[in-house]
Amino acid sequence: MLSRRSFFKTAGMGAAIAATASFPTELISWAEPQRTTHQGGPILLNSNENAYGPFPSVLALNNPFQDANRYPDRGFDHLTEHVAALHKVKPEQVTLGCGSTEILKIAACAFAGPGKKVVMASPTFEAIDFYGKAAKAEVVKVPLTSAYAHQLEQMSAAVGKVGGLIYICNPNNPTASLTPRRSLEDFIRALPPNTYVLMDEAYHDFVAGSADYISFLQTPIDQDRVIVARTFSKIYGIAGLRLGYSVTSAKNARLMAAQKLEDSTNVLALRAGILSLDHEDEHQQAVQRNAADRDEFMRQAAARKLEVIPSSTNFVMFNTHLPVRTVIDHFAKSNVKIGRPFPPMDTFARISLGKPEEMKTFWQAWDKIA
Ligand SMILES: Cc1ncc(COP(=O)(O)O)c(C=O)c1O
Repeated sequence: MLSRRSFFKTAGMGAAIAATASFPTELISWAEPQRTTHQGGPILLNSNENAYGPFPSVLALNNPFQDANRYPDRGFDHLTEHVAALHKVKPEQVTLGCGSTEILKIAACAFAGPGKKVVMASPTFEAIDFYGKAAKAEVVKVPLTSAYAHQLEQMSAAVGKVGGLIYICNPNNPTASLTPRRSLEDFIRALPPNTYVLMDEAYHDFVAGSADYISFLQTPIDQDRVIVARTFSKIYGIAGLRLGYSVTSAKNARLMAAQKLEDSTNVLALRAGILSLDHEDEHQQAVQRNAADRDEFMRQAAARKLEVIPSSTNFVMFNTHLPVRTVIDHFAKSNVKIGRPFPPMDTFARISLGKPEEMKTFWQAWDKIA
């Protein structure tokens, strides 16, 4: 017999489960499975973080909790103005978010939804799949080309007449590859008016002078349908503070604001963000350090004749010719965490670049499995 109390508990649970019955529960496991860490714990080459941490000017922050008793309005306005000045746009075009993940979520809510589509590549950064489904849009996945670029014609065909949001991750996570700017421009101009493009430039800073790449913030296109997302989690090394932003038309930004959580950015993140943008010298150092780390990875890989996808990012993907789960488990035994599987690339491993001593451990472990 159920007691009255436990009956209500069970009934309540049932109601809660029923209420979420249409929720894509398989996606609850999307989140990075291996993130938890502790001092002296595993080597983390699994989340495309910046192994070196925040810029020196951020680490030197005097009294970081100054203003922690205040709501973040001042820092919010200040960073918004900084971002607007950086990209030569009006502050009304800028949306700050709790990481660029919040930007992805609110873009899915603002520009897709019931009866609309979210079109994404496969494989790409999965969050938009989760948020598209949560917004009750139909999510369509289009495989990458053999050169690991987005298949733009198929993506526009997939969105069809109903419209919605097309997610382009450029450079793409997990393949570290580029989709050429020229083809992106032609594709965007040909889209129907009810279709928006979310251009995720999370790894923009790591692209080293490729003829195929020009940021849509650096050289904007005369198309209001484009929303460009950037993050402070990668080059700026403050993933744990959660800060990102988007730039789009003021009209789109207003639609996004309606979906946003009030005050989703905190005073410490905002201060760190402002300081980061103020230190171009430190930004340049971080760019050069990543390029050197990436070159060294490529040298080590070439010495081992590995099949590596050319990388424009702070991570690298290569064909291990082994089931990737076996490779992940092998590295875990050596205290090294590498990227999760990215179906359908079932023999490819994604490795975030670590510090030189961390990469030494990585290669020692690789040499035991190769
Ligand atoms: C392509 C891409 N976009 C967005 C994000 C989310 O970044 P944030 O930490 O700003 O939420 C990531 C994180 O790895 C990413 O790879």
